Amino acid sequence: MQNIKIISTASYTPPQVVTNNELTTLMDTSDEWIKSRTGISQRCISQDENTSGLAFKVAKQLLQKALVSADKVDLIIIATMSPDAYTPSTAAIVQGLLGAGNAIAFDISAACTGFVYAYNIAELMLRSSEMRTAMIIGAEVLSKLIDWHDRNTAVLFGDGAGGVLLQKSEDKTSGTLGQHWQTFGQLSNKIIAGQTNIAPGFPKDKTSLTTFSMAGRDVYRFATHEVPNSIKQAMKTAHVNLNVIDHFLLHQANVRIIRQIAKELNQPLTKFPINIDKYGNTAAASEPILLAECVNAGVVKRGEIIALSGFGGGLSVSTIILKY
Ligand code: ACO
Repeated sequence: MQNIKIISTASYTPPQVVTNNELTTLMDTSDEWIKSRTGISQRCISQDENTSGLAFKVAKQLLQKALVSADKVDLIIIATMSPDAYTPSTAAIVQGLLGAGNAIAFDISAACTGFVYAYNIAELMLRSSEMRTAMIIGAEVLSKLIDWHDRNTAVLFGDGAGGVLLQKSEDKTSGTLGQHWQTFGQLSNKIIAGQTNIAPGFPKDKTSLTTFSMAGRDVYRFATHEVPNSIKQAMKTAHVNLNVIDHFLLHQANVRIIRQIAKELNQPLTKFPINIDKYGNTAAASEPILLAECVNAGVVKRGEIIALSGFGGGLSVSTIILKY
């Protein structure tokens, strides 16, 4: 089977940092509550850049780091639940800004699972075509979907972008070993944001996009059950066992969820890098930001085996096991 390798990683978060204490001026909450229930200390909030702007900054870094020119990119997929517009796709905007005229570009919507879904889609497309190089970016400006007076959701989310450049390679020491993806549409009402009044049954008085509503405890239970299951399913397809996985890079939604998953899998917490304290939940951007930071810091090294696992709106879950 043709090998597909990550040739560069990158991330970008907006410079404006909003601490938990700053949020207490907008809603009835506290630094202590937010930290102890979620692990979040601060988040980055975009002032004047939209989702395509954050993604474009990541896209440029990906090309620079890999010394690949824009015309060599065959495919751009952006995973986002907060696109600039319904159309054009955020990926098309980034393709235009980059001058990557040979690339097919489109977005996918799978909330916090979006980056891992996009990775899977890109692999399938590269394997079944003459395409050689794919850019996968998770990018979000979730702050535009937040009710800044709703303490149940506003404290959780942040803005940012991260991505990888994938390329077909003869190097057999890196590449994907296995994967799993699953959607639970019967739970689609558990996380809703950006709902419109277009479809029958939706409230007729709502004329604009809605802000986040989330059944937090149900999503918590879903994540702590379905993520370990997804990792185990992916391991079966990869023909590896848990102990050979060097790092579990999980979607950063809540540090308690990550601890519980480590416990369920009977794996040491040291194998689970965490950066939610700095960024909050950045949905589709969370895993590529974490991966890029781990690669930069030398935490994830070439030849190591990592599990990338996302979960969220849909509800949805997905895992890729790969040798970095
Ligand atoms: N500050 C202070 N108090 C608060 C806050 C806040 N920010 N938010 C809620 N509370 C209160 C509640 O009103 C409640 O008060 P009550 O007991 O008087 O009714 C109390 O704190 C407990 O609230 P719970 O919702 O039960 O708190 P819980 O411990 O479940 O934590 C949380 C809530 C953090 C949302 C948790 O359920 C969670 O992380 N769920 C998973 C969310 C997730 O993973 N989302 C990922 C997907 S997101 C996506 O796809 C885009």
